Amino acid sequence: MNLKDLYIDFFVSKGHKQIPSAPVVPENDPSVLFNTAGMQPLIPYLMGQSHPYGTRLCDYQKCIRTNDLEEVGDVTHHTFFEMLGNWSLGDYFKDESISWSFEFLTKYLNIPVERLAVTVFAGNDDIPFDEVSYNKWISLGIKPERIAKTVDDNFWIAGETGPCGADTEIFYFRSEDEIPIEFDPNDDRWVEIWNNVFMQYNKAENGIITELPKKNVDTGMGVERTTAILEGVNDNYLSSIWKDVIDLICNISNLSYEGNERSMRIIADHLRTAVFISADPAGIKPSNTDQGYILRRLIRRAIRHAKTLNIDINSDWEQKIATLLIDKYQKYYKELVDNRDVVLNVLTEEKKRFNKTLEKGLKEFEKVTRNNENIDGEMAFHLFDTYGFPLELTVELAKERNLKVDIVGFENKFKEHQEKSRTASAGKFKGGLAGNSEIETRYHTATHLLNAALKVVVGPDVHQKGSNITDERMRFDFSCDHKLTDEEKKKTEDLVNEWIEAGLDVTVQEMSKDEAIKSGAECMFIEKYPDIVTVYQIGNDKYGVVSKELCGGPHVKNTSELTKFKIKKEEASSAGVRRIKAILE
Ligand code: SER
Repeated sequence: MNLKDLYIDFFVSKGHKQIPSAPVVPENDPSVLFNTAGMQPLIPYLMGQSHPYGTRLCDYQKCIRTNDLEEVGDVTHHTFFEMLGNWSLGDYFKDESISWSFEFLTKYLNIPVERLAVTVFAGNDDIPFDEVSYNKWISLGIKPERIAKTVDDNFWIAGETGPCGADTEIFYFRSEDEIPIEFDPNDDRWVEIWNNVFMQYNKAENGIITELPKKNVDTGMGVERTTAILEGVNDNYLSSIWKDVIDLICNISNLSYEGNERSMRIIADHLRTAVFISADPAGIKPSNTDQGYILRRLIRRAIRHAKTLNIDINSDWEQKIATLLIDKYQKYYKELVDNRDVVLNVLTEEKKRFNKTLEKGLKEFEKVTRNNENIDGEMAFHLFDTYGFPLELTVELAKERNLKVDIVGFENKFKEHQEKSRTASAGKFKGGLAGNSEIETRYHTATHLLNAALKVVVGPDVHQKGSNITDERMRFDFSCDHKLTDEEKKKTEDLVNEWIEAGLDVTVQEMSKDEAIKSGAECMFIEKYPDIVTVYQIGNDKYGVVSKELCGGPHVKNTSELTKFKIKKEEASSAGVRRIKAILE
C-alpha cells in the first residue's frame, strides 16, 4: 500500500472522515493564486464554522508553490506536491495528535524511534513553553536530547493573519552517517517530515492575537518527501512517485538520467503541475496573467528543457508524459479523467504557440546581431522574457557568429525580475488567507442573489461559471448566449435590490448531496462537493424562496445587510460566458 492509502486508512480508523482534495485554484479567494497548504481550504472551519463532515477530518490535498519555480531541477524541489493532513476541529488536542503521529510513524511506517527527533515551542512573552507536547514526547520514548525547543520555528501561521498556534515538528535522520546523540534542527541530515500545529489563536490585521472559539489541530506531511525517505533515496525523483516518469523521459530522449538529471526533473515536475492546473475546475488556460502565466511558464520551461535533451519538439512527447501522469493519478483525482482531453489540448496548443514565438525570437536575434554587435544583458533578457529564449540558446547562437553575451548582465536583469515577481506573489499571499471579511461575506450573498435574479430575468438556463470577490467588488461569470440588453441589466439590478429591501433571511441547512439536487438547489460543479453538503437558502414567506445553492458560505444573516446593489459592467468572458462586475454601495 502506498503512503497516501496507509495514511487515510490509519486516520479513518481513528474516527476521522476523509474529505476530498479542494481544487488547486482557491474558490472565492482572489488573494492567492494557488492553494499552498492542506489547511488553506479549511480556514473557515479552523476559525469556528462547523464542517459538514464533523470534527475529525483527514485528506490528501493538491498544493502548488511557485515561489521557488527556478529552483526546480535539484533533488528536492517540486512546484506541485500533495500534503497529507489530519484535523481536529475542537475535538482532540495535543495528546491524541502526538500519540497518533508517533503510532503511524513507528508502527505503520516502521520508522525506528532512533531516527526520529522533534521540536517544540520554547515559549515567549505571549505564549508559554509547550510543556504538554514536550512531556508527551518524553512519555512516548523520545529522549530529551532529541527534543529541541525553538520559538520562531515552532509557531505556525499561513501568511500574516488568521488561525495560528504553536507547533511540534517531527524530523527524520536521512543519512547513512552515524546518528548524532543530540538533535540539531539546523543539521541538514535531519529532515522535517510532519508538522502538528495546535491552532488555538487568531492573529488579526493589527497583530493582536486572541483565542479561537475552539482548540484545533492541523497537521501536514509532504507525500513526495516522506515517500523518498521511506524508500531510502536521496533524490526525490528516484522514488516510486517519479521513477516511471523519469524512465519515460529517458526513453523518449534516448538518454540516461545520469548527466541529464536537471532537465529531466524539470520536465517531469513542470508537466505534472501543468496537468493538475489545466485539469482544475477553474478552467485555467495559458495566458500572461496570474495562474495562466504560471501555467505558460511551466509548459515553456519544460519545452526548453526537452530541447536541451534533443527531444523532437514536434513529436507527441508531451502527450505521452501527460498521459502517464494522468493514468498514475486518476485513481485519486477524478478531474484528471474528466478533463483528460482538455489537459492534452492545453499542452499541445501552448507548444504550438511557443514554437511560433521561438521563430519570431530567432528573427529578432538576426536583427539585433546584424551589425555584429555583442549582446548585452538587457537584450539577452529581452530574448528570454519576450521570446522565451533560454540564455544557453542565446549563447549558442552568438557563438556561431563569434559574438559574446553579457551573462552577468543577464543574470542581474533576471534577479531584478525575479525579485519583482516574488514580491508580487508574496503580496498576493499576504492578508488573503484571513479571507471572508465582513464586506466579502456581503458580496458572497450578493452573488447568490445575482445568480437567482439572472435566472428570472434572462432565463432558467443561466448558470454560474465562476466568481471572484474582493473587498471592492464582485465579479460573476455565467452561461448566456447574448450580451445583456440595458433592460435586462436594469431588471436584474432592480430585482436584486428588491430582495435586499425585502430583508430576506439567509438560512443554512445540511443535507445529502442527492437530497440537495432533488430539492432544486443550484450548484456549480456537482462532482466537487462531498456527499453531505450545506445549502444556503434565501427567502421568506412573503416572497417564497428566491435562491437555494450548495455553498460552503459564509453569508450574511439577512439580505438587508447588503444595502444597495449596482451593476458596473457587463461583458464577454469567453465563448457563451458573460461577466458582470458589480458593487455594493
Ligand atoms: N499548516 C501546516 C503546514 O502547512 C500543517 O498542516 O505545514
